[in-house]
Amino acid sequence: MAKIAMYPGTFDPLTNGHLDIIKRCVPLFEKIIVAVAKNPSKKPMLSIEERVSILEEETSTFDNTEIHVFEGLTVEYANKIGANYLLRGLRAVSDFEFELQMAMMNRELNPEVETFFLVPDAQYSFLSSSLAKEVYRLGGNVEQFMPNSTLRMLDQKTGK
Ligand code: COA
Repeated sequence: MAKIAMYPGTFDPLTNGHLDIIKRCVPLFEKIIVAVAKNPSKKPMLSIEERVSILEEETSTFDNTEIHVFEGLTVEYANKIGANYLLRGLRAVSDFEFELQMAMMNRELNPEVETFFLVPDAQYSFLSSSLAKEVYRLGGNVEQFMPNSTLRMLDQKTGK
């Protein structure tokens, strides 16, 4: 069976921490589908098209990644695309409880899909999209937290 992994998230916006996880998975799976959740409850700053375009640019050098958009249950989408693994990053102990709950619920919903946890580089252990956006909004330097295409998109969006 082909090892196809789905990496679901809101990616509002993609940070170097997310990219670090994607890069670590590239040699481990035959195909990685980065799946951008239509998650209006999170009130994203970037549109779904903007988030997808950043991801497409930043993963263009990998030949086993695809960017998709999904709504509804993650495990249902995984089923639809034939993904047998869900990828999630664990940055710190504080992520664990929520991630454990999600993994258990997803297993309950579809026991065929295995959740695979990866730990990003220590320099990203405190990073989140919200924090990066806040630092950006307040004029701080976010170059070490975000890839170029994210920075360009934020500049375009905010008219900087
Ligand atoms: N580097 C940097 N930041 C990271 C990170 C990493 N390696 N891993 C997680 N984060 C941050 C994100 O930036 C995000 O920060 P924010 O909250 O400030 O925006 C936060 O951690 C969580 O983001 P993410 O990993 O993208 O998850 P999410 O909460 O946005 O998305 C879904 C979670 C989409 C996977 C989940 O809601 C889902 O499965 N939804 C579909 C509906 C469903 O199936 N529900 C049942 C689930 S059991």
